[in-house]
Amino acid sequence: MTTTCRKATPEDVDSLYELIRGYAEKGIMLPRSRDVLARQIDTFVVAEIDDEFVGCGSLFQLGAELVEIRSLGISEGHKGQGIGSKLVQFLEGEAREQELPKIMALTYEANFFRKNGYEIVSKDIFPEKVWTDCIHCAKQDRCDEIAVLKILN
Ligand SMILES: CC(C)(COP(=O)(O)OP(=O)(O)OC[C@H]1O[C@@H](n2cnc3c(N)ncnc32)[C@H](O)[C@@H]1OP(=O)(O)O)[C@@H](O)C(=O)NCCC(=O)NCCS
Repeated sequence: MTTTCRKATPEDVDSLYELIRGYAEKGIMLPRSRDVLARQIDTFVVAEIDDEFVGCGSLFQLGAELVEIRSLGISEGHKGQGIGSKLVQFLEGEAREQELPKIMALTYEANFFRKNGYEIVSKDIFPEKVWTDCIHCAKQDRCDEIAVLKILN
């Protein structure tokens, strides 16, 4: 059983949509329409085991040096097998290639990110995030997500 990570292609839109929809319904991810996924497909990566889709993530550029990990999710039944960590490492490789050394996430899974070398930080250090996305969020005054950051070297 080998897990591989690769950049997403237009053929992955349905799998991405279903996985993200499932977590969005539970309130732990933002929903993404098929349209948006198709338009932003270049920002997505997927994980597969023997050609079966088992997880995804995406990278969104927030600033000149800063990217955000978004839509990181592993299919039910495949969690806890190191696939999330592999996807994070793959996304970090993408960020390095794009010469974007700071990688952050807003998450309910801070311990998972800490295991992957991320530090918990204040959301206030990301004005790029706060002033573009958070201002549109219904939970902006009672945000319960934790900000995590890693500086890539
Ligand atoms: C969070 C998530 C991506 C982690 O992926 P995963 O493949 O299950 O995680 P891994 O197997 O790579 O775990 C790596 C390490 O983190 C730990 N870990 C994983 N999830 C954890 C959690 N919720 N709390 C504490 N530790 C956790 C694992 O025990 C493992 O530790 P180890 O190296 O000592 O064994 C996955 O559980 C998921 O899809 N969750 C639902 C969606 C979500 O919350 N996404 C995050 C959005 S930012």
